[in-house]
Amino acid sequence: ERNQPGLLTRYEAFLPLTEQTPRLTLGEGNTPLVYAKRLSEQLELDIYLKYEGANPTGSFKDRGMVLAVAKAMESGSKAVICASTGNTSASAAAYAARAGMRAVVVIPNGYVALGKLAQATMYGAEIVAIDGNFDQALQVVRDIADTEPITLVNSVNPFRLDGQKTGAFELCEQLSQAPDYLAIPVGNAGNISAYYKGFIEYAATNHTSIPRLLGFQAAGAAPIVEGRPIEHPQTIATAIRIGHPASWQLALTAVRETDGSIDAVTDEEILAAYQLLARTEGVFAEPASCASVAGLIKRAKASQLDKGKVAVCILTGNGLKDPDTAFGTQSITPTVVSADRRAVWQAIAGGQL
Ligand code: F0G
Repeated sequence: ERNQPGLLTRYEAFLPLTEQTPRLTLGEGNTPLVYAKRLSEQLELDIYLKYEGANPTGSFKDRGMVLAVAKAMESGSKAVICASTGNTSASAAAYAARAGMRAVVVIPNGYVALGKLAQATMYGAEIVAIDGNFDQALQVVRDIADTEPITLVNSVNPFRLDGQKTGAFELCEQLSQAPDYLAIPVGNAGNISAYYKGFIEYAATNHTSIPRLLGFQAAGAAPIVEGRPIEHPQTIATAIRIGHPASWQLALTAVRETDGSIDAVTDEEILAAYQLLARTEGVFAEPASCASVAGLIKRAKASQLDKGKVAVCILTGNGLKDPDTAFGTQSITPTVVSADRRAVWQAIAGGQL
């Protein structure tokens, strides 16, 4: 086997592995850190985009899933289960397929982006859609995994956060330092907690600093900001349409200990960032991901960030995951013309550039 080494091999020393843990990989991690030139100029910061959409299933979930599924294999488990707004299910389905295990995914009916559904289907997951939201789906799968011989791979499984903390390691390696600010979307609040853990562990051996963690929820699904669970969360960013985050307390610790914060951004702000990233930076990330950029813009415009500092936005998922939102924001009805040079050139701004 000549597989490229994956996260489990690269960060072996930092992960809870034994000799028996299979070194499962689909080539996750090592994602691009892209300098956002225009946005940096505009906000007078040095802004980098951590493009987690470049992971094998198109989201950051692969970092945690590779470890969670490897540990499930190690324990002799034959099946994994998760609740998901889409990305966790795609990732669980892929790594389970790779591991030769069954994957069961429970999703909120009608609120999972098309590409994510296509993925879970192709990877052969057994998909159950509930008449309810993510929070209810998570409760159901926790109850099932409590009593049945099936491994829960949501981020309440501690191996998930251990895998996801490698995102912080990579950032420090790519920048040769820790950033000053880390802007990150918050849904179930696992990832912000994982980054906190990662920065702390990396600092312990490499003496890097700890960034201020700036988490952003969607305004219609902002339980941590409002300080109460939201029974009917709503947002265009379906990935973070979550009203009762499982890692609520961990996220609060992360922001308290780093002098950070959790704030909300509206769907309008999310969509503006979504289009801006694609059009002016050439980076296509799914709407939930863009909450990080929307939030950074909001804070910078409110003069809440120190000029000249290094900020990283975690772009958690690939824009291709959610074609419906892309088409919903753009009126792209391509002009259909005959197949000749004249007609095509004429169609381009009437033949004038
Ligand atoms: N961004 C994307 C693209 C996500 O899919 C998620 C979570 C988040 C951000 C938030 O991360 O939950 O760790 O705070 N998606 C989960 C899922 C809920 O089922 O795919 P978090």
